[in-house]
Amino acid sequence: MSSYKIASIPGDGIGPEVTNAAVEVVEKLAKTLGTFQINFTHIPWGTEYYKKNGQYVSDNALDELRQFDAAIFGAVGAPDVPDHISLWGLLLAIRGPLQLYANVRPVRTFPGTRCPLNTATKGIDWMLVRENSEGEYAGQGGRSHIGQEWEVATEVAIFTRVAITRIIRFAFETAQSRPKKHLTVVSKSNSMRNGMVLWDEIATSVSKEFPDVAWDKMLVDAMTVRMVWQPESIDTIVGTNLHMDILSDLAAALAGSIGIAPSSNLDPTRKNPSVFEPVHGSAFDITGKGVANPVGAFWSAAEMLTWIGEKDASDKLMSCIENVCAAGKVTRDLGGQCDTKEVVEAVCAEIEKLKN
Ligand SMILES: NC(=O)c1ccc[n+]([C@@H]2O[C@H](COP(=O)([O-])OP(=O)(O)OC[C@H]3O[C@@H](n4cnc5c(N)ncnc54)[C@H](O)[C@@H]3O)[C@@H](O)[C@H]2O)c1
Repeated sequence: MSSYKIASIPGDGIGPEVTNAAVEVVEKLAKTLGTFQINFTHIPWGTEYYKKNGQYVSDNALDELRQFDAAIFGAVGAPDVPDHISLWGLLLAIRGPLQLYANVRPVRTFPGTRCPLNTATKGIDWMLVRENSEGEYAGQGGRSHIGQEWEVATEVAIFTRVAITRIIRFAFETAQSRPKKHLTVVSKSNSMRNGMVLWDEIATSVSKEFPDVAWDKMLVDAMTVRMVWQPESIDTIVGTNLHMDILSDLAAALAGSIGIAPSSNLDPTRKNPSVFEPVHGSAFDITGKGVANPVGAFWSAAEMLTWIGEKDASDKLMSCIENVCAAGKVTRDLGGQCDTKEVVEAVCAEIEKLKN
């Protein structure tokens, strides 16, 4: 029987609430199916750790993570620490150095969730692929003359041939694996005339390796319109770190709620452990109230199971989650009455039925 070592990094805000829920559900699944073993190790990185130690992660964080097959992550961010300190201290300190260059975000309407679009008669089923290692989040830039009237700040977006080529190729492979075999390459090559033009040129060149994948190009602003007006013309989308950060929040809202959206930070070379996390953040407004939607964390855990080689268990977990949503046992963000604990119990009850 395969056995997996998984790091659990709950982080801040509702991160611990949804991560604990996901651990409980996956442990229940492993015990019920009896086809694999899974051991979660708690890692306390986050704002509390930062306040105690002056840094968000341990000195040897990357090596520590490399001892695991994968990691699940909750969220990072606290009301009393600037967001750029917390994000760079934890999440961006892991994604870039571990070269988790493909951020994959499936977006799909569930039975029982409400898509606010009347243009999506058959619901939404998209796969978003975000470049996760450079671009607008490369961290290049600086500030001079701080506090003066003539203060200047630069934020330099970095686009390299290596990183663009590998993410575009990954996106074509992803599109090729889906029934529609369609990819939309998003950029902003009208106003950004260097990096984004390179992006488009590489897309054209890589597309020749995938003659069976139909593809088109969209400017990111026009893409928001297409997502609302012609949602069914879209299947797989690839774009830069910033563009897909924004489009994936829009996509999650169009599919029902940010609370259900999952994401995978993948190292497709498998040299480093990949990290799986819900798209949402710390959600200060609902922290500690016990009402956070755990479905984004569950779905992320299901993506992790597929990645480590437990596709059957992952499919079973997804069908349990869908049954619970279809039965209306959902949190307030999806128009329901349940709290986090009730959703966990409902999913565990569905898992129990897998025994029969
Ligand atoms: N990956 C991450 O760790 C990540 C992502 C985004 C934001 N953040 C951080 O989180 C903090 C808050 O950011 P924000 O308010 O812009 O975004 P957010 O995702 O935390 O919250 C946006 C809105 O969505 C709601 N929401 C989010 N997740 C939910 C869930 N599971 N169930 C029900 N409702 C949910 C919140 O209540 C809030 O109204 C900031 O510090 C930010 O930097 C972290």
